[in-house]
Amino acid sequence: MHFAFDRAERGNMCGIVAYIGKKDATPILINGLKRLLYRGYDSFGFAVMNEKNNIDYFKKPGRLDEEEKNLSKMGLEGATGISQSRWATHGEPNQVNAHPHVDCREEIALVHNGIIENYATLKAWLKEHGHKFRSDTDTEVIAHLIEEHNNGDLLKAVQKALSLVEGTYGLGIISKHEPNTLIGARKGSPLAVGVVKNGEYILASDPAAIIEHTKKVIYLDDGEVVKLTRKGMHITNLENKKVQKQAQEIQWDLEQIEKTGFDHFMLKEIFEQPQTIENAIRGRALINENRIQLGGVSDWLDFLTNVDRVVFLACGTSWHAGLIGEYLFEHIAGIPSEVEYASEFRYKSVPIDTRTAYFVISQSGETADTLESLRKIKQGGAKVFGIVNVVGSSITRETDAGVYLHAGPEIGVASTKAFTSQVTVLSQLAILLGVRRGKAVPKEVRSRIDALVKIPLQVQEILDQNEKIKQLAQKYYKFNNFLYLGRGFNFPTALEGALKLKEISYIHAEGYPAAEMKHGPIALIDENMPVVVVATDTEDVIYQKVVSNIEEVKARSGNIIAIATEGNESIKDLVTEVIYVPKTNGYLTPLLNVIPLQLLAYHIAVIRGCDVDKPRNLAKAVSVE
Ligand code: AGP
Repeated sequence: MHFAFDRAERGNMCGIVAYIGKKDATPILINGLKRLLYRGYDSFGFAVMNEKNNIDYFKKPGRLDEEEKNLSKMGLEGATGISQSRWATHGEPNQVNAHPHVDCREEIALVHNGIIENYATLKAWLKEHGHKFRSDTDTEVIAHLIEEHNNGDLLKAVQKALSLVEGTYGLGIISKHEPNTLIGARKGSPLAVGVVKNGEYILASDPAAIIEHTKKVIYLDDGEVVKLTRKGMHITNLENKKVQKQAQEIQWDLEQIEKTGFDHFMLKEIFEQPQTIENAIRGRALINENRIQLGGVSDWLDFLTNVDRVVFLACGTSWHAGLIGEYLFEHIAGIPSEVEYASEFRYKSVPIDTRTAYFVISQSGETADTLESLRKIKQGGAKVFGIVNVVGSSITRETDAGVYLHAGPEIGVASTKAFTSQVTVLSQLAILLGVRRGKAVPKEVRSRIDALVKIPLQVQEILDQNEKIKQLAQKYYKFNNFLYLGRGFNFPTALEGALKLKEISYIHAEGYPAAEMKHGPIALIDENMPVVVVATDTEDVIYQKVVSNIEEVKARSGNIIAIATEGNESIKDLVTEVIYVPKTNGYLTPLLNVIPLQLLAYHIAVIRGCDVDKPRNLAKAVSVE
């Protein structure tokens, strides 16, 4: 069974490439889409105007680059075409939902990047007017809207159709009624026109697909529509008013474009976190209503409210998120919780309890140990919920329900934005269940939601310290052992910081509960063992205990790097280095404290010359045992 999802999650993130000119379109479209695969892929498709001025199209789920050998058999020939490589944000990526989408008579074809918010209303209206739909996507509505308003002028039909649409779109459109025309339109989703020469154009959602043909590009702005023919280009707004645009020169080379100017995908993804945490909150933390809404589990709230306990299962970084989930569910929702390594759980002779809610956490949705643990639980007759990033992944297809991260493709092998999105989803689940279990009064809920919606901006404040953390890395990159300490919610943060360092810089690093240090690891402390201590949340009763741990380390001439709350001046006298983070509600401190640890690990690894995006011996998804 597939994840439920709520309306706000419809739409898709993807790559769009279209061409009109004198060359065979299909090879240009294929190579263009391959440049956009880093944006994610779970299905792809093409539509080409053939010599008889009919539209031939081909689409299927799967990875474009894995299907390339079959593409030559598609038999698509023509000099005008559109294409898309889709990263679904809802619904299983299957043949019907793949783009392009067409109108009733298959005379108009289009590819779309974005979300049509009012698609349900439009779809109902179109059905009343006799339109027959093939897919359950929001995109298909646009093709039928254009059909409905097509009175012989495709540009005008598109303008009229889009004036009825609410939401975001980047579109490539062709029609057999005007076989020598390619139309593009943009609102909220990027779309650029590559000017190869007058009468030859590449339309794409990302300049990465354009740059090998031309560096001369025109970026459409919201509300603009471009009509491209072999005679020239014509840009208007939705009221058919001509718009003058200046062509620009693409400044970046291809590799820089894919990383949007960052040196590595990992750094790009670290810097995406204000946006990805916002994506995990949007439509869910309803501050004006002082409540949390999670469409993916809405049918299971009675069950989840009344379970005896919760068990989180995951691997690696996702296991660290599960550990924070345990603290969150116990502290905020009052639900006894446990965390299991999926790789251990699947072989344990553990009774499966139907009065327990099992949550599997996975960025890829393909981790073999996590998937097999899920199957073991299902065989035991219990319910399993997913917290997953990749839509339509194996885990999402076998859970009873779940919540997507909406973090977008995570390319760097070391997980960063997926981790903070997992913790953001877990935080919202804990608040939601805490209210339903009568564990939280409205004032507490308000305070927690207020703090949550502030996190994206606070993360940005920490990212603004990137240069300072890079300098810090210059002082510490030569050490061969690190110890990371934290307590409470930040014990898992310490584990995650240690994992980040070891998996990309190959430095040995251990995370430990701060108090446990005196039960052994303190024997390791000397001037050659830097100790990173998460020491935020000064109001917390355990802060003083953390200070005691710091003093124990200091007494052994340890180098201490502290993550501390802004305004805490006294800690400077105790430690060697301080990285300050904004103050937030205690339960959210991992979301802030992990950011400097991600950056510290990244910069140390770069200085050490490591392959940050593809560390040795590691895979992005451990889908085999
Ligand atoms: C995290 O940085 C690692 N790449 C790895 O531990 C990862 O978290 C683990 O393999 C689980 O992957 P998943 O979230 O896709 O299931």
